[in-house]
Amino acid sequence: MTKVIAHRGSKGTHPENTLAAFKEAIRVGSDGIELDVQLSKDGQLIIIHDETLDRTTNGHGAVGALTLAELKQLDAGSWFTKNPIFQEIPTLEEVLMLLKEENFSGLLNIEIKTDQVHYEGIESKLVQLLQSQPWTFDYMYSSFYFKSLEKVWEIEKNQKIASVFRLSEKDEQRALQTAFIAGIHPKIDWVLEHIEDLADFPKAIRPWTVNEEEKMALCFAYHLAGIHTDFPELAMQVRESMQK
Ligand code: G3P
Ligand code: MG
Repeated sequence: MTKVIAHRGSKGTHPENTLAAFKEAIRVGSDGIELDVQLSKDGQLIIIHDETLDRTTNGHGAVGALTLAELKQLDAGSWFTKNPIFQEIPTLEEVLMLLKEENFSGLLNIEIKTDQVHYEGIESKLVQLLQSQPWTFDYMYSSFYFKSLEKVWEIEKNQKIASVFRLSEKDEQRALQTAFIAGIHPKIDWVLEHIEDLADFPKAIRPWTVNEEEKMALCFAYHLAGIHTDFPELAMQVRESMQK
């Protein structure tokens, strides 16, 4: 069954990459959760999408220019007008502990956000934290930046690794030719352009961002491994209606 993966948490209904968004993803029964990891100035693993603070917080400038203590002063929730609430920028550890406390048993997709800023040492910090204790859920690593995937593979051979890309034929071929790449996370447009290849594609396909009902239905009909969606509750309903 195609997994419904809540993109940055339930991004369409709650402020992205915050504990509120992850709690909502769990509440609606998402099969998976995706988040974006970067490093603070003092090398802490934090959850935020953009490399700058301006769009999703009341801070300014580069994420990596502030320490964790400074980042923790910022509000990453109130900008989201549909549901204004104060939210801190979470650390990865805080999210992992939340998922464990909530007994989340789905798939956590950890996207390493290193395509714009190549955070030194982020891959080994990630693997070390994830290996530090048993979790209630499965997890996997993904990135647009292939070097990060290679670094993760060098130190951790037991987890799924997926290549994230938009439409590029080059990225698709590299993913196909690299044995340790277990799956691809392309833009949904790639799926629409490769309908005839989907059934025989040799690796797991989990496109982003699948927000329209007809595109969700198409991905379910082709039994893709998963979809990343900002609206996990809607996607679960669409999937359920197709099973009747
Ligand atoms: O990991 C899938 C998707 O999140 C990739 O795009 O920009 O939303 O991180 P982006
Ligand atoms: Mg992402």
